Amino acid sequence: MNVSFHSDALPDIDRITGRRRMRRNRRTEWSRRLVRENRLTTDDLIWPIFVIEGENRREAVPSMPGVERYSVDLAVEAARRARSLGIPVVALFPNTDPSRRDDDGSEALNSANLICRACRAIKAEVPEVGLLTDVALDPYTSHGHDGLLREGEIVNDESVSVLARQALVQAEAGSDIVAPSDMMDGRVGAIRETLDSAGYTHVQIVAYTAKYASAFYGPFRDAVGSGKMLSGDKKTYQMDPANTNEALREAELDIAEGADMIMVKPGLPYLDIISRLKETFGMPTVAYNTSGEYSMIEAAAANGWLDGNRAMMETLISFKRAGADSILTYFAPRVAEILKESV
Ligand code: PBG
Repeated sequence: MNVSFHSDALPDIDRITGRRRMRRNRRTEWSRRLVRENRLTTDDLIWPIFVIEGENRREAVPSMPGVERYSVDLAVEAARRARSLGIPVVALFPNTDPSRRDDDGSEALNSANLICRACRAIKAEVPEVGLLTDVALDPYTSHGHDGLLREGEIVNDESVSVLARQALVQAEAGSDIVAPSDMMDGRVGAIRETLDSAGYTHVQIVAYTAKYASAFYGPFRDAVGSGKMLSGDKKTYQMDPANTNEALREAELDIAEGADMIMVKPGLPYLDIISRLKETFGMPTVAYNTSGEYSMIEAAAANGWLDGNRAMMETLISFKRAGADSILTYFAPRVAEILKESV
């Protein structure tokens, strides 16, 4: 049979749609701009930076193309770049020399450790940029876990007392925001108490509220050098990827204990969690666009399989759409450059 498409065979779309044509608003760039519901701005960004020993040293992270580890002096340069790009916050992660790692992660409490030196240097040179530091023992322990390991188990309460001291050491070094990523119970409250009683009532806490036991942290563990050291997995403290309600209970606790902001991690596979937490609690909510999410896009782009910058922008706007207020992302400087050019 010959199906023809001459005009009298066209369907009567206006009758079908009741004259509502969704494409009208999408027709021109100015109109798309006018009806846009969500926007990504440089103000939304937190730029994670890996720090190494030495001077004037930069080191590529092989599993994160485009990301480098910086010695403290170059981390200061990066913070200057953040300031000139208008990125509000940098997050510092140390790659601790293996000789300084031990069973109890005691280097975490050393006020002259790499992270503390980086904080002091950045605060002295670039005080306008906010400093976020991770509270967890994994960059410092010989077993790569976030807490203390006793007879094969990550013990909670003893870990919390060390983590609270770690947070204080970081605050003393100039950290503006401490971010417990360890997932021990009660750590937010213990950190708040410890900070407050030492006079650091102004230091903010971003709680890694819903941090899942995820495959998407692989490249990060390479970057901080804890991957090869990790014995077992983190499933007894990080959340089960199958759970949603549990994230709400975690958030309730963190908020009650004094969290100023809550975080969901990873980001992209957990947009539903971001959205539910934001709707339920209305808290400042941070999405952690993890190392694995970064490297997935970079790897595909390097192969010519997708347009890396477009995939990046689309990923980041998805966090805003889900309800995130800010986004911790390795793409931060690149995005900030793009947003700057587009003004
Ligand atoms: C450590 C920590 C991890 C990340 C941030 N802090 C790794 C882990 O929990 O094993 C992951 C970050 C990323 O993948 O970008 N507590």
